[in-house]
Amino acid sequence: MAEKTWVRMVTAQTPTNIAVIKYWGKRDETLILPVNDSISVTLDPAHLCTTTTVAVSPSFDQDRMWLNGKEISLSGGRYQNCLREIRARACEVEDKEKGIKIAKKDWEKLHLHVASYNNFPTAAGLASSAAGFACLVFALAKLMNAKEDNSELSAIARQGSGSACRSLFGGFVKWIMGKAEDGSDSLAVQLVDEKHWDELVIIIAVVSSRQKETSSTTGMRDSVETSLLLQHRAKEVVPKRIKQMEEAIKNRDFGSFAQLSCADSNQFHAVCLDTCPTIFYMNDTSHRIISCVEKWNCSEGMPQVAYTFDAGPNAVLIAHDRNAATQLMQKLLFCFPPSSDADLNSYVIGDKSILKDAG
Ligand code: DP6
Repeated sequence: MAEKTWVRMVTAQTPTNIAVIKYWGKRDETLILPVNDSISVTLDPAHLCTTTTVAVSPSFDQDRMWLNGKEISLSGGRYQNCLREIRARACEVEDKEKGIKIAKKDWEKLHLHVASYNNFPTAAGLASSAAGFACLVFALAKLMNAKEDNSELSAIARQGSGSACRSLFGGFVKWIMGKAEDGSDSLAVQLVDEKHWDELVIIIAVVSSRQKETSSTTGMRDSVETSLLLQHRAKEVVPKRIKQMEEAIKNRDFGSFAQLSCADSNQFHAVCLDTCPTIFYMNDTSHRIISCVEKWNCSEGMPQVAYTFDAGPNAVLIAHDRNAATQLMQKLLFCFPPSSDADLNSYVIGDKSILKDAG
């Protein structure tokens, strides 16, 4: 007769985040320690999020993972680092109803199965790795009854993908670069929660959902090695901008917020141009979106919309309120009619949001 066995499962859902002051460049590639602080806004899970189920069972004979239904290898250093760090923090679990008791030391022998699903294109500059690693670490922490708070967990998610550490919180989030060599103080903190500035509306104009040619990891390595602008940015520009951005967010000062977000996005892409070999993440459609937004902001005499672009051509547009968002959509639809060959294929609209524990 088959031996009685059990499976313990936890499901979590984590939204992605979009940086308004960008992380670009590492001072330590293995621990993923950045050259500057960054600030992001966490999106609504209804539109861009990862859902991850983690399971443990004595019947599993190896760690395995499926991403969007396809098995992927867990042998990469980043996954292994996250798994090692979270296993080291695992605690005893007892579920009397199901007759499950897992002692702290058992977690070293037990294997895991992970199934993860993105409701948006993977690796197309829509920060899929951010939501993915944040969700994985959060779900594993619940499964293993780890006692760490979200900031402490963010320092583990960071070792999967830098930007992932910021997805452990909703609202506006700051990743503090830290000083410690072991990375223990390089973690995310929530600046304000999602209710603080809830009239903002975020629109993502999907210019292309194709995988990007230069990954963020490779691109930022090349920038650190070759761009003088990056060094200037990290030492002189970002520290001041971070303080100004924190003030703008605290005071819900949209004019300063928009000016800082757009300037920081433009400087990040200028660093990409200053990198050898040169990196082009934006394309003509991205440039036309910038012109359209800037013309409108100028004609109104005050910013209605902020734009920011990550490592891809897709525009993230942050509107002052619903009215500005509606007008923006009308302008985008006029400039990029859906039937044209303008290469703008869809819009995703969302508010900011919170991390949801579906476990
Ligand atoms: C342009 O976090 O994807 O989106 O740490 O190498 O995994 P790795 O890079 P990743 O880089 C994100 C870069 C960015 C800016 C940002 O999110 O701050």
